[in-house]
Amino acid sequence: MTLGAAVFASGRGSNFEALARRPAWHRARSETPPWRVTLVVSDRAEAPVLAKAAEAGIPSIHVPVRGRDADEVAQDTLRALTDAGVDLVLLAGYLRLVPAPVIEEFRDRILNIHPALLPSFGGKGMFGHHVHEAVLRSGARLSGVTVHLVDERFDEGRILAQWPVPVLPDDDVSALAQRIQEVEHLLYPQVVDHAARAIARDEPPEPLTFATYHPDELSPP
Ligand code: GRF
Repeated sequence: MTLGAAVFASGRGSNFEALARRPAWHRARSETPPWRVTLVVSDRAEAPVLAKAAEAGIPSIHVPVRGRDADEVAQDTLRALTDAGVDLVLLAGYLRLVPAPVIEEFRDRILNIHPALLPSFGGKGMFGHHVHEAVLRSGARLSGVTVHLVDERFDEGRILAQWPVPVLPDDDVSALAQRIQEVEHLLYPQVVDHAARAIARDEPPEPLTFATYHPDELSPP
């Protein structure tokens, strides 16, 4: 069974691209993909992720948020997810809080990726370069990637997986961001595989540990 996933994104969409490539990875191994991206939702009409979705032949919808009634946003979002038969939601650089009725409807079926090791360097306003600036300012020698379930608050849901990334002495924001994004593109699709298999069994996803690192894949033990 292949579940349908909606990717929510506000920006560039490099994680969307990594997620959209995952079914081909499974098919190359003669496996049925446990999930595939069937819809992209963006709050920004000009977000590059929308053009990337079109190139990939994946339907997308612009659901504006700013200045709108929260209930209307929630209803538009829920309708889009229902119409597309979505089973799980993957936040990938989505800069808005997911409306509470959507969280309620998709409880334990919404994941987010964050470019640091939560619970440090998360919360409202901690996105993109702000995260890496805070890490560099703090003097931390280790940052990383976190994939977690989404609840009503920014970056606070149950952590499903983490992967460390070193902070090097000469790092600036862009060097650290790039090192972290490379790991994001490896980690997120694998954690979604794990979550989708649990969701297909009607179970909430359990935290995952990773033991070894391969050049093209982070490997669960
Ligand atoms: C990623 O770093 C992700 O961790 C964060 O937003 C960024 C989105 O990047 N939540 P992209 O649009 O997928 O390239």
